[in-house]
Amino acid sequence: MQPRDLSTHATYEAGRGIEEVARELGRDPNEFVTLASNENPHGPSPAAVDALQRAAESANAYPKAAHADLTARLARRWDVTDAQIWLANGGDGAIDYLSRATLEPGDAVLVPHPGFAYYGMSARFHHGTVRSYELTKDRDFIQNPETVLDAYDGERIVYLTSPHNPSGSTASLEAIERIAAETADETLVVVDEAYGEYAAAESAVALVEGRDGVDPRDDVAVIRTFSKAYGLAGVRLGYAIVPEAWADAYARVNTPFAASELACRAGLAALEDDDHVERTVESAQWARSYLIDKVDARAWPSEGNFVLFEVGDGTGVAAELREKGVVVRDCTSFGLPECIRVSCGTDAEMRRAADAINAVLADGTTGRSESGVDEA
Ligand SMILES: Cc1ncc(COP(=O)(O)O)c(C=O)c1O
Repeated sequence: MQPRDLSTHATYEAGRGIEEVARELGRDPNEFVTLASNENPHGPSPAAVDALQRAAESANAYPKAAHADLTARLARRWDVTDAQIWLANGGDGAIDYLSRATLEPGDAVLVPHPGFAYYGMSARFHHGTVRSYELTKDRDFIQNPETVLDAYDGERIVYLTSPHNPSGSTASLEAIERIAAETADETLVVVDEAYGEYAAAESAVALVEGRDGVDPRDDVAVIRTFSKAYGLAGVRLGYAIVPEAWADAYARVNTPFAASELACRAGLAALEDDDHVERTVESAQWARSYLIDKVDARAWPSEGNFVLFEVGDGTGVAAELREKGVVVRDCTSFGLPECIRVSCGTDAEMRRAADAINAVLADGTTGRSESGVDEA
């Protein structure tokens, strides 16, 4: 007896954590800074930590009230109905719910390349197929309607990532609207705003709720998460905001109690702590300009909590940085083997990372990108 044919399924390559890297190198985890997974360097909101501790006492019960309360709180936050908020086990879980709700076997999804791997993985889990549109370095990973529509061929879901992982580029509301308008009625445009809090761009929820004289669209959904700006990656909490017209599909596709009691309580508390999010976003804004300014390599302007650098040999540079105690993301698995992605950390972490990257690049043994320093 074997599982079904999984040979076309890619495995998810997460950024590597400190413990894992330290164990592999036989070193003390305290020697490392980890800038590989776009986590919040300031931790969760203290209010969320309190809520988690308190919620632990009632972990014997199913999260009935907490689930409903968080749904209602988010619906109020976004000015949509409760049924339009689909809580899930992280943004990843929300992607799965959208796959479950839309894909028939053999249906295709259109994803950005390079891009976040889970879109394609989720489609394949749900017996779908995957096509991609190219975002290119030489066009600064620009996300315009032409790039997407030229590749579009009637897919059931089109994914946009704004800000885009790993480049940090964004898609404007006008671009998203045009893509939604020019794709078929049966195509859902999913705007993944996992890093939305860090960006100046307006959320695509505006298209779902239809404010400011624009009619609500029934073909756009938005993904948000508590993993990044809210610092709750470990509790796994995210959600989709879906069109009003098909909101009741959630009851037919969700895993019962999609978000745990602890996750819901932490989420509710985190939503009340605006200061924590503000501090987090300000710190990331400082960190990304600091990195772009200081690191001697081509970089792309980023609206996320990370910066992409072209360093020649991403794998080699990431390995040398690990030796120096700085863990960054080698972008080979994104299809950018010449790049690394560096997450925004604390001021001290950023100074250490910039110095370490410059030292590795100056050493030159791993090979420098042709486009070099001056194109930053
Ligand atoms: C673009 C993008 N979308 C979604 C996610 C999923 O995040 P989570 O499942 O932790 O909410 C991530 C995580 O890194 C991401 O980079």
